[in-house]
Amino acid sequence: MTDMSDTGMSDIAAGQRVLNEAAPKMIARDVDVFYGDKKAIDNVSIDIALENVTAFIGPSGCGKSTFLRALNRMNDTIASARVTGKIELDGEDIYSSGMDVVQLRARVGMVFQKPNPFPKSIYENVAYGPRIHGLASGKADMDQIVEKSLKRAGLWEEVKDRLAESGTALSGGQQQRLCIARAIAVDPEVILMDEPCSALDPIATAKIEELIHELRGRYAIVIVTHNMQQAARVSQRTAFFHLGNLVEYGDTSEIFTNPRATRTKDYITGRYG
Ligand SMILES: Nc1ncnc2c1ncn2[C@@H]1O[C@H](COP(=O)(O)OP(=O)(O)O)[C@@H](O)[C@H]1O
Ligand SMILES: [Mg+2]
Repeated sequence: MTDMSDTGMSDIAAGQRVLNEAAPKMIARDVDVFYGDKKAIDNVSIDIALENVTAFIGPSGCGKSTFLRALNRMNDTIASARVTGKIELDGEDIYSSGMDVVQLRARVGMVFQKPNPFPKSIYENVAYGPRIHGLASGKADMDQIVEKSLKRAGLWEEVKDRLAESGTALSGGQQQRLCIARAIAVDPEVILMDEPCSALDPIATAKIEELIHELRGRYAIVIVTHNMQQAARVSQRTAFFHLGNLVEYGDTSEIFTNPRATRTKDYITGRYG
C-alpha cells in the first residue's frame, strides 16, 4: 500500500473512515453543525460501538463538545445551533420529528465538565430522573434504584449514611460521581462525558477513570478529553478532531502509536495543542 501519510489525501481518507461494526450503537453520517452562519463541524461520519469507550481528542475549539452535544440533541438548547446530516441510535433517526427528546436524553445521558448536581439532597439528585420517567413503582423501588445507581457510580459507601444531605456539599470528585449516578439512574444506553475530570484533582480523576473502566461493559461511553494520556488510559477508540473535521478515527493504540494523518501525528507528538 502506498504511504500517503505526508499528503493531504490521508487526512481525507482517514476522516471518512467509519469502523466496520456489526451493529454500532450510534452512527453519524455527514454531520455538519452550524452556529448561525459559522460551521463548527464539517461533514463528520463516525460509528460509536457498544461496550467501548470512545475518546474525542483535539485542540480547544476544534468542535469536540459541539459534536458530542449533537449525539443527544443538546445543541437544541442553543438557539443559533443547527445540525444537518444523519445521526441514529440503534438505527433510529434521533432528529426525526417523532423522537421524544426527553426520552432520548435519558437513553443518551450526559456528564458535564463542571459537576452540576441539583441543589437538592443526594437522594433526590439520583431519584429525580427515575421519578419523571416513571421508572419506580414505589418508595422501596426508588430506594433500590438510588442505591444501585450510587453503587455503580462508586459513591454508595461514601454517602449511604448522609443521603439527605445536599449534593452540593460533596467534594468535586464526589459531585461528579453523583452526576454519573444521576445519569445511570434512568438506565441509559450511551453516556456522553465532556471533559468530566477537568475540574478535578488527580486523585478524584483517577477514581473517575477507574469508574469509566468499570462502566464500559454496560454502556457505550464517549468521553471528550484534551488530555491525551487520559484518552490512552480509558478508551479503546479514539477520534481526533481538528478545525471541525474528524481527521482520524480508529483503535486508540493505533492512533497513538501509528497515526495515519500528519495532523494527528503532529497533535499527539505535541507539536500544537
Ligand atoms: N454556543 C455557541 N455559540 C457560538 N459558537 C460556539 C458555541 N459553542 C461553541 N462555539 C464555537 O464552535 C467551535 C467549536 O467549539 P467547541 O465545540 O466548544 O470546541 P471544543 O469542545 O473542541 O473545545 C468554536 O469555534 C467555538 O467558538
Ligand atoms: Mg469542549
